[in-house]
Amino acid sequence: MEHISVLLNESIDMLQVKDDGIYVDCTLGRGGHSSEILKRCTKGHLYALDCDQTAIDQSTTRLARVGSNFTCIHTPYEKLNEVLDAQGVGKVDGIIMDLGVSSPQFDDGTRGFSYRSDARLDMRMDQSQTLDAWTVVNTYSQEELTRLLKQYGQEPFAYKIAASIVSRRAEHTIDTTFELVDLIKSVLPQKVLNKKGHPAKRSFQAIRMEVNGELDQLQVALEAGIHRLKPGGRLCVITFHSLEDRLVKNAFKAVATPKKVDRRLPATGIEVLEYRFINKKPIIASDEELAANKRSHSAKLRGIERIRESANEEKK
Ligand SMILES: C[S@@+](CC[C@H](N)C(=O)[O-])C[C@H]1O[C@@H](n2cnc3c(N)ncnc32)[C@H](O)[C@@H]1O
Repeated sequence: MEHISVLLNESIDMLQVKDDGIYVDCTLGRGGHSSEILKRCTKGHLYALDCDQTAIDQSTTRLARVGSNFTCIHTPYEKLNEVLDAQGVGKVDGIIMDLGVSSPQFDDGTRGFSYRSDARLDMRMDQSQTLDAWTVVNTYSQEELTRLLKQYGQEPFAYKIAASIVSRRAEHTIDTTFELVDLIKSVLPQKVLNKKGHPAKRSFQAIRMEVNGELDQLQVALEAGIHRLKPGGRLCVITFHSLEDRLVKNAFKAVATPKKVDRRLPATGIEVLEYRFINKKPIIASDEELAANKRSHSAKLRGIERIRESANEEKK
C-alpha cells in the first residue's frame, strides 16, 4: 500500500520552510514530508535520513523529480549529530520526525511487522542490523520478555505470554509471526479475545520497539535535534503512541519551561529561555484526515522553536 503522510499540511506549516534554509527529515520514508520541504526550500538544502535502505532508494527517485538540492543518508537517526558533522553542517533551520513504521514496511508481508501476514520473525526497520524479532523471542529471558511486553506494549498479560514463549521454546524455536500470534491467542482469556482489536497488537508493538530501539533512539535524536536548531529554527515531531509522545513532551518541557526556583535560596539571576513551544497542546488529525487515513488516529504533532543561542554559544 502507498504511504499516506500523516498531518502533512499541519507539520509543513509548522516548519515554516524558508527557501534558503537547511532542513533535516529524520524519517524520510516514502518522501511525503521531504517532497513538500523540497518544493519550498529551492535554494537551501535538505538532508533526508532513514535506516531502511528501501525507503532511501525509492525516495531518492521521488525527490529527484522535485529538486536536486537534497542528500539522502542511510542511517539511524540517533546518529543525527555525527551525520550532520560529517556533512559539514552546523545549525539548521528545521528538523522533522514522523515516527514509527511506514505503510510499505508494514504491508510488506516478508518483513514480519504485521500479525496479519505469515513471515519469519524479523521486524527490523534497518535490515543491516543483527538484532531481529526472532532473536528477541527466542533468546531473551522470561524476565526480559515480561519487562518489554509490559513497558512497550502495556500488555496486561505480559507475564503469561512471556512464560508461554519460554516454555514453547524449550520444545522448538518460534520462527514465524503466525506461530507467535497462535501462541499469544492460546494464552489470552476468551473475554480478551472477544474484544475489538487484534490480540497480538500489543505484543507485536512491544517486540518491534525493542528490536528497533525506538525509545532510546528517539531520546538521543531529540536531544541532538533540539541543540542543532538555529535561532528561529523549529523541530516538529509526529508521534503515534503515548510512550513516544511523553518523551517528546518531556524533552521539549526541559528546555522550554522555566526551572522551579527555591525561593529560600539567593536569586541567581533571571533565567532566559532559549526555546518556546510552538503549540502548548499537540495537534491531532482533522475529522477529514481521520476519515481518510486510519494511521492518523493516534497521531500527535508537537513543535518547539529556538528563540536564541545559549549564552555560551553567543560568546563563541
Ligand atoms: C512513518 S514513516 C515516515 C513517512 C514519511 N514522513 C512520509 O511522508 O513518507 C517512518 C520512517 O522512519 C524510518 N525510521 C524509523 N525509525 C528510524 C530510526 N531510528 N532511524 C532512521 N529512520 C527511522 C522508518 O524506516 C520509516 O521509513
